[in-house]
Amino acid sequence: MTITRKDILTINQKGWNIVAPQFYGGTALPKYGPLSITEPELQLIDDLKGKPALELGCGSGHTLYYLWKEKQASELWGLDISQEQLQYTKDYLAQENIPAKLFLASMDENPGIPESYFDLVVSVYSLGWTPDLQRTLSLVYSYLKPGGKFVFSWEHPVYQCLEYDAKSEKYFFSRSYLDENPEIDPSWKGVEIVLQPRKLSTYINAMTDAGLIVERLIESEVNISIAREKDYAPEKWYSVPRAQLIPTTFIVKASKPL
Ligand SMILES: C[S@@+](CC[C@H](N)C(=O)[O-])C[C@H]1O[C@@H](n2cnc3c(N)ncnc32)[C@H](O)[C@@H]1O
Repeated sequence: MTITRKDILTINQKGWNIVAPQFYGGTALPKYGPLSITEPELQLIDDLKGKPALELGCGSGHTLYYLWKEKQASELWGLDISQEQLQYTKDYLAQENIPAKLFLASMDENPGIPESYFDLVVSVYSLGWTPDLQRTLSLVYSYLKPGGKFVFSWEHPVYQCLEYDAKSEKYFFSRSYLDENPEIDPSWKGVEIVLQPRKLSTYINAMTDAGLIVERLIESEVNISIAREKDYAPEKWYSVPRAQLIPTTFIVKASKPL
């Protein structure tokens, strides 16, 4: 049975509305991902004084906050598919009267975002949720000014294939890296969700096909400085021993040609 875009969005919106509290501030700049290298170390994003920024899948608003506070973005725009997440963003930014234009929408559609307008589009641990990667990246291209930057992070596609076997105390490949079919997980964090595995090459080639120029692809060493004691348990999904085999996260910086 093929699962339609509409089904994916219905299931994932419902799921994200329930799991939203579990993710509050968890996957946001300055962190690009669990146990991964951070923005202060990488410096992928230039100062944004006088420049607008957009986040796809803005979650609880912590990345937007960082872009305002640390990078001096002049305008914040964000979209997310989850009403609960957008409410978190509104409340979080409202604490400091930070203005933002927010849309309830899937990132593979344009709910009224201006074109050739943004110096920066970011997406931190959200891009992989899109049901249509190619359409999403074409939209990113359309939102950017010539010379504008697109920076995103997502769970490393090889990391998604590794599971831990407690009996043998070894990691093993639990699924094929090559299989890109959407999967319905009936109990992801306790909710039904549709996961959409994609290869690393699929992301890179889709960016190129959208007209973006890939400047950097980062697969970092495990960042021990942010590891807590519990992160050393090998069976934990994001764990130091697992991240020593495969990075948890890949990070991409791309640009729209001048
Ligand atoms: C891990 S969170 C990102 C958190 C965010 N970086 C922050 O600073 O809080 C992933 C987000 O993607 C959103 N999402 C899932 N599917 C989406 C879609 N098709 N379009 C837009 N957002 C989506 C979820 O609602 C969730 O808020």
